[in-house]
Amino acid sequence: MSEVPEQKKGSDPTLKPIFPPWFDRVVKLAGLVAGIGVVYLVVLAVYAGSPETINVGYEPAQPIEYSHRLHVGELGMDCRYCHNTVETAAMAAIPPTQTCMNCHSQIRKESELLIDLQESYTSGKPIPWVRVHDLPDYVYFNHSAHVARGVGCVSCHGRVDQMDVVRQVEPLSMSWCLDCHRNPDEHLRPIDQVTEMDWVPEEIPETLHARLREEYDINPSTSCSTCHR
Ligand code: HEC
Ligand code: HEC
Ligand code: HEC
Ligand code: HEC
Ligand code: HEC
Repeated sequence: MSEVPEQKKGSDPTLKPIFPPWFDRVVKLAGLVAGIGVVYLVVLAVYAGSPETINVGYEPAQPIEYSHRLHVGELGMDCRYCHNTVETAAMAAIPPTQTCMNCHSQIRKESELLIDLQESYTSGKPIPWVRVHDLPDYVYFNHSAHVARGVGCVSCHGRVDQMDVVRQVEPLSMSWCLDCHRNPDEHLRPIDQVTEMDWVPEEIPETLHARLREEYDINPSTSCSTCHR
């Protein structure tokens, strides 16, 4: 029925083959497919947003048994000795073999646990460290925007100094980011304390947080383009 006025309106006869009788059915089918698509997207969003699917506790084995507990917790090394771009760049660099060899060309150089390190050094092939934290490509994150503004590593990575194997402790979900962007105060500390894992404020926390927020002029954005650009 609906096709008739359609054809009458257009005096151009070439319109006829464009709207054959099965056209309506195709349109309905397309509508159905689009409908399923919407449901699919909603389900996907719900799943993607539920904490279980966002890798808390992910703790992949690494090619060399490098331990943060030993090097940071016991030997007292600062994060920036190895992750040396964390204050100035988006990425916190993973150290090259040379950084390890500053010590291990002397220390424990015969250790079985360091054979792959020595081999990487001789061959020049980098150690294939396995990524632990990994945001989707459509999210923009920047370390320096946090670390150079008084947000400590521990707020997002937990007590790395107690981990033999690095483990993801926060969901890295959108609501996790936004919760802090809306209310960052309790995560603020003096900038010279950002890598200290066990730092505790000497003054009343609320006073300190309010003072730092004003002094550093902290005002995290919650607009979509901050993280999706
Ligand atoms: C001696 C060098 C060294 C020091 C010091 C060091 N790290 Fe690392 N870090 C590494 C290496 C190598 C890796 C990659 C292997 C791994 O994940 O264990 C790594 C991995 C990480 C990861 C996981 C990266 C990913 O793939 O998502 C985090 C988070 C991290 N370090 C945080 C810290 C923090 C916080 C400190 C200071 C408290 C610190 N590191 C100190 C060498 C170091
Ligand atoms: C500042 C010096 C220093 C740096 C840099 C350093 N280490 Fe170490 N590492 C040590 C010391 C000290 C020990 C403990 C040695 C001992 O137990 O007698 C050690 C122990 C180890 C061990 C255990 C060895 C064993 O036989 O028990 C591994 C594995 C290791 N380091 C890997 C690495 C890797 C990988 C890097 C680079 C990401 C690295 N280290 C960087 C000083 C360093
Ligand atoms: C505001 C939260 C936050 C803070 C603070 C933070 N990180 Fe991260 N870190 C992340 C996220 C999120 C990722 C994953 C980034 C990605 O996938 O693009 C990450 C990834 C890393 C990685 C893997 C390499 C990379 O850059 O993707 C290392 C190493 C690391 N962080 C070390 C550190 C150290 C050391 C500090 C403190 C000096 C620190 N981070 C502070 C959230 C944080
Ligand atoms: C623990 C608190 C905290 C968490 C968690 C956090 N942020 Fe932030 N973020 C901040 C603070 C504080 C700033 C600095 C705001 C300023 O400079 O005024 C900031 C700044 C930024 C900036 C720079 C742009 C700006 O607003 O000035 C980006 C981009 C950003 N955050 C992305 C992310 C993403 C993506 C995540 C989650 C993966 C995340 N943040 C998680 C506290 C946090
Ligand atoms: C502070 C950072 C931040 C801001 C601001 C932000 N997002 Fe996100 N968004 C993220 C992160 C991180 C993820 C990835 C979560 C994951 O891996 O599941 C994400 C995921 C998404 C997704 C994928 C679906 C999902 O739920 O996983 C959509 C769609 C999205 N964001 C839309 C928006 C819109 C629209 C806005 C503005 C109202 C916005 N985002 C603001 C950080 C942010």
